[in-house]
Formats: sequence, C-alpha cells, structure tokens
Amino acid sequence: MYTIEITGGRPLCGSTRVQGAKNSVLPILAATVLCEGTSVIRGCPYLEDVACALEILECAGCKCRREGDAVTVDASVIRKSRIPDALMHKMRSSITFLGAMTARCGKAEMSFPGGCELGPRPIDLHIKALREIGIRVTEKGGCVRAETGDFAGGRVHLDFPSVGATENLMMAATLSRGETVLTNAAKEPEICDLQSFLNKMGARISGAGTDEIRIEGVSRLHGAEHRVIPDRIVAATYLCAGAMTGGQIELRETEPEHIGAVLSVLRDTGAQVETHGDRIRLKAPSRLNAIKLLRTMPYPGFPTDAQALVTAMLTLGEGTSMVEETIFENRFKHCGELCRMGADITTRGRIAVIRGVTHLTGARVEAMELRGGAALVIAGLAAEGVTEVRGTAHIDRGYDTFLEDMQALGASIMKREAGACICQKRDEGI
Ligand code: EPZ
Repeated sequence: MYTIEITGGRPLCGSTRVQGAKNSVLPILAATVLCEGTSVIRGCPYLEDVACALEILECAGCKCRREGDAVTVDASVIRKSRIPDALMHKMRSSITFLGAMTARCGKAEMSFPGGCELGPRPIDLHIKALREIGIRVTEKGGCVRAETGDFAGGRVHLDFPSVGATENLMMAATLSRGETVLTNAAKEPEICDLQSFLNKMGARISGAGTDEIRIEGVSRLHGAEHRVIPDRIVAATYLCAGAMTGGQIELRETEPEHIGAVLSVLRDTGAQVETHGDRIRLKAPSRLNAIKLLRTMPYPGFPTDAQALVTAMLTLGEGTSMVEETIFENRFKHCGELCRMGADITTRGRIAVIRGVTHLTGARVEAMELRGGAALVIAGLAAEGVTEVRGTAHIDRGYDTFLEDMQALGASIMKREAGACICQKRDEGI
C-alpha cells in the first residue's frame, strides 16, 4: 500500500473540478437491481467503494461495464440474492442492497455491513422500517435474512432520520403492493438524487428532501440513465484545504446549495466565499477566526462528514473552537494524529476543544477512517515541512483524484510506493 507525501506550507491557488458523489452513486448502483433491464450511471468516480458495489452486482449476476465516468449495469438476470460476507464487510453502504434485492427477488441474505469505524453502526432502523412495509426480516449470528410477506407498503416513522434506512426503504417500497408513507426521513441531497433516479426507472416517489416521503408501489421498473450529483463532502474538503493554506481557489462542477452549512462556517472563519452557478470561489483570510461552537446535525445542518475537515482547519484558528459531533459516537480519531502535527485538541466523548496554534509541523501520521484521513492530508498541505500519511486505503474509498486535484492547485503532494515516488495514476479497471 502506498503512503502520501506532502511538502506543506504552499497556499493552494487555481481551479479544479469536483467528482461525482460517492454517497449518491452507491445507493443508486444498488437500485439498478430493481429492474430487469440496463441502467447507465454517469459521473461515477473511481473509488474502492464503487468497485465493491460493482463486485456485489456482478456476484448477483449483473453485467457491469465502465467507460470513463459512465457505468453500465445490466440487471436482466439476478442469479443470487445472497451477498458474500467479504463484500458486505468492506463498506457500510452494502446494506442498501437489502431493500433493493428483496424487492426484486422476493428475498435477500447478507451479513451486517462493515465500513468506517465511527462507533457502533447498527441497522435496527433499516430492519424496523422494512418490517413495517411487510418484509419479514430475521437476524441470526450477524446475518440478516429478508423475504417479502404481504409487502403491502405502510406507514413508517424513523426514530432518527437515518440516511441509509431512508434509502433502503425507498428502494424496497418502489415494488410493494401499496403506498408507503415515510416520516422523519433523511433530507440529504443524496436522497433527492436517489428519488430522481428511481422515478426515471418508473417509480412513483415524492417528497425527497422533506421529512415525509411517499412511495406508491408499482409492478415493475425499467432501466434508466442518470448523472449523479457532485460530491459535497469532497467540495468541503477542498475548500477547507484552500482556507487553511491561505490560498485562493475555485471549484467547478459543484452544487453550492448542497453545502450551505459548510459555506456559512467558512465565512465565519473570515474566508471570502462566493458562488456562481456550479462554481464556488474561496479566498482565505490572513488568519482564520475560531468558531465558538460547531455542532454536526442531519441535513440541512452541518454535515458530520465535513467535521474532520473543519476540525483540521480550526487547528489554525485564532482562539479556541469547540466541535460537537452529534451523529456518531467515535468520530474524533483524527484529532490524536493532528496533535502529532502540533495541533492543540482535547476530546471528551462527543466534544472536541481546539485551541488554535500559529502553525502545524509535518509528521508521520495514520489515517484511521475516510474523512479523518482526508483531514490529515489537508493538514499536511498547511503544515511546515514534510508530512507522510499512512493508511491511505481509507482515503481511496471516497476520494478519486484527490492528489491530482491538489497538484493542480499547486500542492507538493505525491504517492510514495515503498521507497519510490509515483504520480497519481488511474487504472482503467472497474
Ligand atoms: C450515511 O451513512 C453516509 N454513508 C455517511 O457517510 C454519513 O456520515 C451518514 O450517512 C450521515 O450523514 C453513505 O451514504 C454510504 P445514518 P449511514 O444511517 O447511512 C445511527 C462518509 O464519510 N443509526 O444516517 O450509515 C448511526 O449509528 C460516510 O462518506 C442507527 O442507530 O448513516 C449513526 O449514529 C461516513 N440505526 C446515525 O444513526 C440504524 O439502523 C446516522 O446514521 C441506522 C443508523
């Protein structure tokens, strides 16, 4: 496995594009099994998690093909509705195959999912929701079995607006024999994108983006073409990098309204942020302001996935900032590694207190999950000296051209493969 080597202290300047959204493409790939046809998903980034989703589809009997950023999935024949454990353990999003596979095949079997270690990641809300629309779900020894019972749809209230549970239920209910009303639904942009794709397949869904989603069951769906939305968390990552390196950057192919909460926090730090259509322009202040209290919340609140990036940025704030992580129990793993670089952070439970320092210093650090790993990279870009980031497999799960994009903005960053320097290469494989 490679490490990332960064020579920091250079302000990022210039313009770069933003990849398609990982957290949109993953449920949409799961949704392709809902029809006996072929779908084309455009804007599909080259990510480990996407490769895993395509492997799951192929194990089930689908034929997948990638041409550039377009992925074609022929789901005419599904031979197996049991997903191999090794693939389930690779990522959290694999659980969203439960609803789609059960609706298509009448049954599905899989182990509990893996994914970033952010604390316990139960699937009780998924299971409760599926049961409430007439799917029989049993759990035994870390394995979940589902099969359609009366499958008549129903009224479902989520105790927490879970993104994955909302997606699972939307997909399963598309082929139920009645109407489903989901309340306290997640409102993330990825939910709206999934509704858009499902309706192109012939589903009858309304209300995504609000806390009440209605799904009228239909007898069958057909293949569709769709371009996924831009990745709002990658955009947030790049903006935090620009802000903490004292740079001036422009991002293209974004949806600014998807990260309104992040843009508001960046402005509070003193950065100049302007949006023009699909572009976001940021000019860093000479010194970042601290943020008295930042609390992660379900959308449209401040996204938990951007918490590590903003925490890294606030290590250079003038004064003391406080971050409260309300979504996950253990999402401050990056803080210890940031302290190796000279940051002054104290964490207690779901609270991190960040006392701003004047500079960070390059160090050898270890990524322990996806967004925390990205936070270490952007800290390395701002730090004086050389930073080496290990555990890069975590970063590969969610970032496609991170190094290339940072190089395009003037960063000195490269992959180092066991003693050799290699530039960012893309293999054309799936
Ligand atoms: C999605 O995960 C995203 N992943 C996560 O992004 C993101 O952090 C999260 O939503 C919140 O926005 C994908 O879309 C692939 P949840 P998901 O269900 O669906 C608890 C990244 O970095 N919960 O909204 O797993 C759960 O433990 C990843 O790209 C239950 O208790 O998130 C957590 O505390 C990380 N029971 C909270 O709800 C359940 O059945 C939010 O989880 C389900 C969830």
